[in-house]
Amino acid sequence: MKKSTISVALLGCGNVGSGTFRVLEENAGLIARRVGAEVRVKAILVKDLGKERDPGIPRQLLTDDYSAILNDPEIDIVAELMGGLDPAIAYMEQALQAGKHVVSANKAALARSGEELTRKTLEQNLMLRYEAAVCGAIPVMNAISTALAANEITRIQGILNGTTNYILTRMDEDHAPYAQVLKDAQDKGFAEADPTGDVEGYDAVNKLTLLIAAGFGEYISPDDIQREGITGVTEEDLRNAAAQNKKIKLIATAVKEKDGIRAWVRPESVPAENPLSRVRNEFNAVLISCNMADDIFLQGRGAGPLPTGSAVAGDIVEIAACIARGTDKSALPTWRL
Ligand SMILES: NC(=O)c1ccc[n+]([C@@H]2O[C@H](COP(=O)([O-])OP(=O)(O)OC[C@H]3O[C@@H](n4cnc5c(N)ncnc54)[C@H](OP(=O)(O)O)[C@@H]3O)[C@@H](O)[C@H]2O)c1
Repeated sequence: MKKSTISVALLGCGNVGSGTFRVLEENAGLIARRVGAEVRVKAILVKDLGKERDPGIPRQLLTDDYSAILNDPEIDIVAELMGGLDPAIAYMEQALQAGKHVVSANKAALARSGEELTRKTLEQNLMLRYEAAVCGAIPVMNAISTALAANEITRIQGILNGTTNYILTRMDEDHAPYAQVLKDAQDKGFAEADPTGDVEGYDAVNKLTLLIAAGFGEYISPDDIQREGITGVTEEDLRNAAAQNKKIKLIATAVKEKDGIRAWVRPESVPAENPLSRVRNEFNAVLISCNMADDIFLQGRGAGPLPTGSAVAGDIVEIAACIARGTDKSALPTWRL
């Protein structure tokens, strides 16, 4: 059935939720032309209704009642932008069960439950998209699952975490110790108060699990990916690397070998000829090696309200266009089963 208005519910109104709302609002005209229908946010789920928020968020859209969203037949798309595993995974399952398409930015939840959610999505003839979950604004999931779909992917290598890349860049360029740079990154909002998820590589392994599922059609749990963070990297390591014209980066790698996929996240000395060596500060990048297209290098902003909101809104636009044209089918799922 074709529709002239596509209604969306955002679950979460933090960095990503508010950024997504702004992208959909400010670019509403061009989005409506591209979709062939108006795309409107009908509800925004939050935990604390009393919290002070960006004045650009209309208060009448806020709700703390998820069942009202599930039971609203007008809502076509649910965008899960809350984070965490519980209740995010259950909320995505319930949205699919209620016949709603799902978009998410939540790499932790998808790295645990993406395969199951994808099966449920296909059974229900719905769509599940999560471009924002891996490297924010960089369209890497779309590139792998659609534009490069006719290739065999042989290797994926990337700088998947902006916080650690910022810390390593500042340590290298300012000749400053890890603890000092971490504190500076926390003061500037590039690192969280508890930086463990970033600096120990947990965030990067979650994203690598999603890249492996999209690129190789295999599931490797984040727990089974060899992982080493950046807390052991010293100024001396960076100086020694520089003397060989190399840069130390937290690199995530997945390689297709005869006997399966090998995957790891660890600090590596990257030679100058590898474009990943030139990715500075909070930027992310991915190098994809393919048997037909050869090497593809993608770089951009991996976090922040608008870059991440751009990726979430892009997924919403794609799904909305399918609904508007009456072709709501997920022909090429992002998680290759
Ligand atoms: N930040 C980034 O740049 C970035 C980039 C890529 C991906 N992501 C991913 O995007 C997701 C969201 O990140 P964020 O930085 O936007 O988080 P955030 O700023 O902490 O916002 C989380 C939002 O979710 C709401 N929420 C949390 N638990 C809820 C619950 N049980 N019921 C209802 N609402 C709930 C919160 O409500 P209240 O406002 O009422 O507290 C808040 O509005 C995470 O999965 C993260 O990994 C973030």
